[in-house]
Amino acid sequence: MTARTNDIEKAAGVLRAGGLVALPTETVYGLGANAEDPAAVARIFQVKGRPSSHPLIVHIGGAEHLDGWVEDVPAVARLLAEHFWPGPLTLVLRRGPRVPLEATGGLDTVAVRVPDHPVALALLSAFGGGVTAPSANRFGSVSPTTADHVRAELGDAVDFVLDGGPSEVGVESTIVDATGDIPSILRPGGVTREDLEAVLGHSLEVPSMSRVRVPGQHPSHYAPRARVVLTEPEKVVSEAELAQELGHQVGVFLPASFADAPVKVHAVVAIPGSMAAYARGLYGFLRELDQRGCDLIIASLPVEEGLGLAIANRLRRAAGPRPTV
Ligand code: TXA
Ligand code: MG
Repeated sequence: MTARTNDIEKAAGVLRAGGLVALPTETVYGLGANAEDPAAVARIFQVKGRPSSHPLIVHIGGAEHLDGWVEDVPAVARLLAEHFWPGPLTLVLRRGPRVPLEATGGLDTVAVRVPDHPVALALLSAFGGGVTAPSANRFGSVSPTTADHVRAELGDAVDFVLDGGPSEVGVESTIVDATGDIPSILRPGGVTREDLEAVLGHSLEVPSMSRVRVPGQHPSHYAPRARVVLTEPEKVVSEAELAQELGHQVGVFLPASFADAPVKVHAVVAIPGSMAAYARGLYGFLRELDQRGCDLIIASLPVEEGLGLAIANRLRRAAGPRPTV
């Protein structure tokens, strides 16, 4: 069931009262608070278990509402906003006076975006202000793409969960540093590098794992409970079967055309043929393999073009070294 008008009014009331609302967006579900309420913003960090130095994204209803949230908007940022908002693009700009330092981890820049989801836009309109929202998962784990994922992971820690159905895009927004004249990609996501380049008329650098510039982007992020191991496409089956023989409960990601072959492992995920469908399903697949009791997931990286760039980025991070607890 998806949100109705009275749910949206209720959620707006929760935000006004300083509470936390999980809201659907086209990328992933967010854990939202009134961006101008430092105590509510502090609760986000507490519920997520996220270090308070990690900046949040402010969600607004449209580019016409940028005033006060940001300052000195370069022409190139206006161009990108015009083309991609509402949509899975986050722009990092100079922080305006409406943004409390709590939301930006003390930075003098702020990340803003206009989500392309009717329920999120209705909430932003009913509420009237900006909503800071990280993905609605515990720090380091897999982002939620359904209201059920949020309920399962955060439960009563959220005051209200707005159900807007499954997220269409499935991976987080593309983050672009637009503070200067030459934008750069800080995190690949739902808007592809190729789409950005077509609008900008020049090529963009892609962040590599060795140059992690965005605060809060630790190597191990977007990770399921099971350990994730990446290997060459042609080795996925043999390595998976060997690990299963050695006593692991192995889950594999295999192209749909191979997924019906008899692979001797605990669980098989059929990778959809289109990158859009793969992105949409990715976090759900990781959650599913956890639920089915896998302790090891073996996959290979897609070609890093289009949405494949964001999918590969998330798989690499899921496979990254874990912090020792
Ligand atoms: O699609 C999305 O972006 C989702 C939905 C809910 O909007 N949100 C999301 O938020 O992914 P979160 O908090 O999980 O990731 C936001 C990223 C973090 O890696 C953070 O470091 C970066 O945005 N970020 C936020 N403010 C920044 C800033 N001022 N400069 C550089 N990076 C920033
Ligand atoms: Mg996140």
